[in-house]
Amino acid sequence: KTDLVTLDPGFVNTASCSSAICYIDGDQGILRYRGYPIEQLAEHSTFLEVSYLLIYGELPTRTELEEFTHKISRHTLLHEDLKRFFDGFPRDAHPMPVLSSAVSALSTFYQDSLKPFDSNHVEISTIRLLAKLPTIAAYAYKKSVGQPFLYPDNSLGLVENFLRMTFGFPAETYELDPALVKALDLLFILHADHEQNCSTSTVRLVGSSEANLFASISAGINALFGPLHGGANSAVLEMLEGIRNSGGDVERFVAKVKNKEDGVKLMGFGHRVYKNYDPRAAIIKRTADDILGKLGGDDSLLDIAKQLEEHALSDDYFIERKLYPNVDFYTGLIYRAMGFPTKFFTVLFALGRLPGWIAHWREMMNDPATKIGRPRQVYTGHTVRDYKSLSER
Ligand code: SDX
Repeated sequence: KTDLVTLDPGFVNTASCSSAICYIDGDQGILRYRGYPIEQLAEHSTFLEVSYLLIYGELPTRTELEEFTHKISRHTLLHEDLKRFFDGFPRDAHPMPVLSSAVSALSTFYQDSLKPFDSNHVEISTIRLLAKLPTIAAYAYKKSVGQPFLYPDNSLGLVENFLRMTFGFPAETYELDPALVKALDLLFILHADHEQNCSTSTVRLVGSSEANLFASISAGINALFGPLHGGANSAVLEMLEGIRNSGGDVERFVAKVKNKEDGVKLMGFGHRVYKNYDPRAAIIKRTADDILGKLGGDDSLLDIAKQLEEHALSDDYFIERKLYPNVDFYTGLIYRAMGFPTKFFTVLFALGRLPGWIAHWREMMNDPATKIGRPRQVYTGHTVRDYKSLSER
């Protein structure tokens, strides 16, 4: 069924679990979802089709895809009481804790269908999450800009519905830009899964206690929030703007990174696994010019990004450390051109990564052999010693 990947014993010892969902070869810069190369999925597939592939293990037939799409379109609404949660969040709240709170709260509204080993409960929870996270994300944006919420329009696809709920207004028809829809669908495909990254491992670890799917995904959202993980796409934009606002001196910034001044890093560079070009970054870079051209992106920031990449790829400091652009290096520029504020970039990462998180949680529930065991530690504290009373201390 699959070409068994021969792993060196050293790798097997460090592996936290086994999984059949996503394959990465960090040295070769290879990424495959259920055996399909990311380059082929990026060119031929759609986000919903890739979500189906990751979760159910095979590309859907036309009928399967239509049924999957129809089921999701029936669950895009939030319970009116959950919608009222947004009245309580501060307008300037970061959207990631809003997202994790709302997702965690889903388990309070669907208490009758949370059993992790009941296939019907798992199926309806899967559909509810895929359908409602875009609505929750759009409402988090609307709350931050003080605009009215739009109910989902189920005649639209998932990405179209999300864009309309985010950027549309009740008073007028929202004109969907096909280039915007295609670009966002592609970015969601590229973010859909990535082996045992920090947030996916978090979903697995929380789920390994048999916590329900909503609780596990909420934990994954919180893990993704970190600037070294999903928060990097926002940090890249802040880095590029900082370089531009201080005169655009790329060489000066690279020198600061190499001297590790104030712990500054080249955000969007480096990866725990890829010690080669992140294949997702290569795809995004290839399309960035095209997408930014159509969406009217900020060329000055793109120029700075390209200069940074050019410098880093020819500088021994980065070459010796095998630091290449990762998935986050160019995505922020595209998200910004789409009209999203910087602090929403990680929310878009979460929307893309959701099917991967769900697939890993379901795989673990179905096959305990893929569970992350209870991690042990190397103890480095005191050897045994006797208690001292206060007067002896
Ligand atoms: C994501 O795991 C996944 O799959 C994650 C992800 C996914 O799809 O889920 O791919 C998404 O999280 C991508 C990564 C986004 N984060 C960033 O772009 C933040 C900047 N990158 C770094 O923080 C760092 O590269 C990491 C955390 C991503 C990876 O670190 P590594 O490979 O474990 O390297 P390290 O921290 O052990 O550092 C090795 C050396 C050090 O220098 P020395 O101490 O040897 O002198 O490389 C240096 C580091 O200082 N280094 C960097 C650097 N990353 C590592 N120096 C400058 N800029 C950087 N970005």
